[in-house]
Amino acid sequence: MKTRTMAPPLSRNKHLIRWVDKMAELTKPAAIHWVDGSQEENDTLCAQMVASGTFIKLNQDLWPGCFLARSDPSDVARVEDRTFICSLSKDSAGPTNNWVNPYEMRRKLKDLFNGAMQGRTMYVLPFSMGPICSPMSQIGVQLTDSPYVVVSMRIMARIGLPVFKVIDQDIKRVVPCMHSVGAPLAPGERDVPWPCNHEKYIVHFPETREIWSYGSGYGGNALLGKKCFALRIASNIARDEGWMAEHMLIVGIEDPQGEKTYLAAAFPSACGKTNLAMMIPPKGFEDWKVWTVGDDIAWIKPDENGQLRAINPEAGFFGVAPGTSEKTNPNAMATLSKNTIFTNVALTPEGGVWWEGMTDHLPTECLDWQGQRWTPQIAKETGAKAAHPNARFTAPASQCPTIDPSWEDPNGVPISAFIFGGRRATTTPLVYQAFNWSDGVYVGATMGSETTAAAAGAIGKVRRDPMAMLPFCGYHMGDYFRHWIKMQRRLSITPKIFHVNWFRKDAEGRFIWPGYGENMRVLKWIVDRSRSRAVGRETPIGWMPRYEDFDWNGLDFSKEKFEELQSFDPSAWRSELIGQEELFIDLHDHLPPEMVYERELLICRI
Ligand code: GTP
Ligand code: SPV
Ligand code: MN
Repeated sequence: MKTRTMAPPLSRNKHLIRWVDKMAELTKPAAIHWVDGSQEENDTLCAQMVASGTFIKLNQDLWPGCFLARSDPSDVARVEDRTFICSLSKDSAGPTNNWVNPYEMRRKLKDLFNGAMQGRTMYVLPFSMGPICSPMSQIGVQLTDSPYVVVSMRIMARIGLPVFKVIDQDIKRVVPCMHSVGAPLAPGERDVPWPCNHEKYIVHFPETREIWSYGSGYGGNALLGKKCFALRIASNIARDEGWMAEHMLIVGIEDPQGEKTYLAAAFPSACGKTNLAMMIPPKGFEDWKVWTVGDDIAWIKPDENGQLRAINPEAGFFGVAPGTSEKTNPNAMATLSKNTIFTNVALTPEGGVWWEGMTDHLPTECLDWQGQRWTPQIAKETGAKAAHPNARFTAPASQCPTIDPSWEDPNGVPISAFIFGGRRATTTPLVYQAFNWSDGVYVGATMGSETTAAAAGAIGKVRRDPMAMLPFCGYHMGDYFRHWIKMQRRLSITPKIFHVNWFRKDAEGRFIWPGYGENMRVLKWIVDRSRSRAVGRETPIGWMPRYEDFDWNGLDFSKEKFEELQSFDPSAWRSELIGQEELFIDLHDHLPPEMVYERELLICRI
């Protein structure tokens, strides 16, 4: 059966048209829709999804332009064990990635995608990661049978006609991204609100720069511009071209004199990037401003003067909802107040949304993320959560009150420091500074963090998550460390490197550090150290602030507590070294010698 193209292609690019035809022949959709990105198109898709039950239209007086989607209970997070890097050789993918022979995987995918879109519309969705005019941007086209993906990508990336225009100029390479939820519809078959398949494949072909995703409609599995392209494929492009694709937020700190310093920080999934990127300075810092450039991904490149500059390749935030409140992150609350897609949060009787931590006071009743009745009493008895722990909001970055005036600067913003951080109840202090670039790379490479709900699997286990890139580096992790080491040679100004941990706990299991806005005090020390005007003391693991090196104006925090927070325990660090070693053993044949020297130096200092 030949597929009927409902409308003429919106692009004149022959390669693109041929590829779309070929993929339609394989997946056999009922219709093809070329996405123009317009408001009318978006409204039509949203209305269709309301009619089909995928979307619930929220009370528009309270939540203008907002919708709620409830996923299938089995499709709630990234699936790392179903994510594959299919490089030609297994060695290029390295031991931290799942690898399958690319020929074998292509055969498997051809089977899976054969007829996968039957009864559905295939959307041809062109997108630009980064501002369309930026020399640092990259172009992709996602073919998808999920309208939820189309309207989400419209928030998360630049899409539609302006991108087709770039594709028609045929100057930028286009990354093909195939996506199907893997739920073909037989003639007359009724659709479900969240179609997906229990068998999932998130596949990357790094050499041919291709992405194939099957079976999931959720977040990083399905919005292919995000983790699949902007991190896994882009990390390969970046290594080849001499730049960096990182799981980092970008934030600008402006002091009372108007001096602005941009920092980029890598924390693992659900470990505080969105919160730090949108932070509001605390009491005592009223004359300071914090500007948001990005909350999840940074593309970073040296300019002609050897200064690193970063762009946020995304146009929206796909943020963790639980824990987000007027108290913890008022900027996020303002950002998500309109034109936002909520996924897996609770629905209140007024037609609003709610999640754990959103308000001090609990709704008397609501429908939980699966549409079941939820009350505080039920929660007490069964432990049921109203929102899924990985419930998310998809909101336009332009709606963030603190969005940086330069956030769409095609040349990016200058980066003065890198921050690595994990979620650690013990061992790692609030903040320390690496001795130099290669020590800083070691600090990032050996980062540990407790696992979160952002990925399917156990929660709260410490695992090594180098540079917060363990699930996102599209090639051998040892080669990635080497790339980091080598980047310094292209720089005339080397950013300083820091490590932070907002999550250290006391003997009673309570967070020692208040976190959130108070993290400003840490950032101020980092900014001052980067500009070589703050004092620190040398310790075996790096430079640390003394109590008097912090600005405590507006916060009552004792010296004793600060010492507890910053304490260095030699016996804990001996175990830490052994934990670090486990990853290094796996990577040994690709480990750059600098990592081995740095480990030796650390052992000597400890
Ligand atoms: P991804 O989008 O998954 O990459 O995550 P992210 O790094 O942007 O995480 P996010 O900022 O959404 O933080 C997730 C969790 O960390 C939430 O539960 C927050 O409440 C919590 N969190 C963020 N900052 C702090 C902090 O300074 N202190 C404490 N204790 N918790 C924090
Ligand atoms: C993460 O898990 O790091 C995220 C969410 O930012 S997702 O887009 O699902 O990967
Ligand atoms: Mn992330």
